[in-house]
Amino acid sequence: MHCPFAFPPAGLVLAALVLVAPFVLHCQSSTMPDAPPDAAPSFDEPFRPQFHYTPPRHWMNDPNGLVYHEGTYHLFHQYNPEGNTWGHMSWYHATSRDLVHWTHRGVAIPEEGNEMIFSGSAVVDPRNTAGFGSQSDDAPIVAIYTSNYFLPGDSINQAQSLAYSPDGGATWTKYEGNPVLDHPDAEFRDPNVFWYAPGQKWVMAVALSEQRIIQFYESPDLKTWTHLSDFGPVGSTEGIWECPALFRVPAEGTDRTHWVLSVDVGSGAVAGGSGSQYFVGTFDGATFAPDAAHLDDAPHWADYGPDFYAAIPWNNVPASDGRALWLGWMNNWTYAEDIPTAPWRSAQTVPRSLSLRDRNGRLQLVQHPVEELHALRTDPVRLGTRTIEETVIPLADSGLSGRTLELRATFVPEDAEAVGLHVHAGADEQTRIGFDARTDSVFVDRTRSGAVDFQADFAARNTAPLTPTDGRVTLHVLVDRSSVEVFANGGARVLTHRLFPDPASDGVALFAQGGSATLLSLDAWTLRSAWGNQ
Ligand code: FRU
Repeated sequence: MHCPFAFPPAGLVLAALVLVAPFVLHCQSSTMPDAPPDAAPSFDEPFRPQFHYTPPRHWMNDPNGLVYHEGTYHLFHQYNPEGNTWGHMSWYHATSRDLVHWTHRGVAIPEEGNEMIFSGSAVVDPRNTAGFGSQSDDAPIVAIYTSNYFLPGDSINQAQSLAYSPDGGATWTKYEGNPVLDHPDAEFRDPNVFWYAPGQKWVMAVALSEQRIIQFYESPDLKTWTHLSDFGPVGSTEGIWECPALFRVPAEGTDRTHWVLSVDVGSGAVAGGSGSQYFVGTFDGATFAPDAAHLDDAPHWADYGPDFYAAIPWNNVPASDGRALWLGWMNNWTYAEDIPTAPWRSAQTVPRSLSLRDRNGRLQLVQHPVEELHALRTDPVRLGTRTIEETVIPLADSGLSGRTLELRATFVPEDAEAVGLHVHAGADEQTRIGFDARTDSVFVDRTRSGAVDFQADFAARNTAPLTPTDGRVTLHVLVDRSSVEVFANGGARVLTHRLFPDPASDGVALFAQGGSATLLSLDAWTLRSAWGNQ
């Protein structure tokens, strides 16, 4: 059943959910969730991702405050401590030593009074510039987030605030001088802060969401901020702008890095609804200037699937590691509150490492799942070269099936119109992932992927432009119980999709359509549960 109140665009969510919440509660979707809403979390629910981060229960949206500190990766996220839809926004905290296994730490920064805790970032402050350090040697971690204040008369104001932890993230205190940065425009949010070493200062990127502008500010101490410059509107501007991040990304095959500004759009993204665009350019400590060639063919999408939003990079990753790492919210504001999971809702993507690849003089964002995920691989299967005649070839007899898999297949399309893989294949459902030679594109088709009727736009086929490299197409696919992430041709194109298949649909198949194609090789692994279920 179409439920008009259950999927407002992100911007409207902020104020409007308060108004529509009573209606949301009365809207029933025809798809039942995979567990009763009040069930104890087992981490074995039919749609529970096994190697993606989820909170034990309740609603989650954007990743927040990604920061590395003393051997620990911190992941905070938008969280409703009281229910399975958006509301009472607070920061929940999880930690990991390996980016694969996560320990839930509970709510770190709670909603209080008329102030919700919206998205933001976290930094380590080894110079104790803000003065939040204790006597111990531990450098304080400082969170910079948006205070969303409800004002009399149902209006809101958004301003930037601080909370700090002197003990490696175990305890958090809101700064008594909050907020530290306000603006006359009420929709002013999602501060992303990093240490700009050449200027020995903090730099913040923050969105004037309705104006489609990213502002840059500088500070010596995280408490006093001075405006530097504005960027936008440019690129994709139909939807409101949220969750910016400015960070350095290594260029493949060089020892250089370039500045990337990611800006999320609440609607009008490439796969419909919300999504993530990026700009490559220069930053001189005050102004971000996109490369002219890059701007010519904007917008550029980080992910061509519908379920990638609000990604931010990990701050403070050691130089000895050198990676640019991020993850995104694996959902879409179009249907975020309707996806049929319980007692939790939403997952984060796997952590991904980023690089830039030169393509015809333009730098293009490339993503790979982090190598740490290899630790979950088991039961390898390798298939050698074979011809796929215009047909579907199930691979159960080759020992390949499952609901949590990593697949890496290289195809030569030959004269086929399309070639690729079916995953989560069952009696009358499958998710099709392939290369379409008629349009030179990689696609994910979830129209018959399982439960799709909880929202009108969910059953879709999404594409990303892709030309074969030396006549070949490689699809690197992560299959979890309720998602697929496709990294095509070495991460040049990425598509991320949530799926809600029948748990019995664990088949994998090869297909070719409208001609025959060659599979050069297929390597596959079962991925063990990071939550200890397998
Ligand atoms: C993006 C967003 C942010 C905001 C947060 C509120 O998904 O709308 O702009 O800070 O979610 O939960």
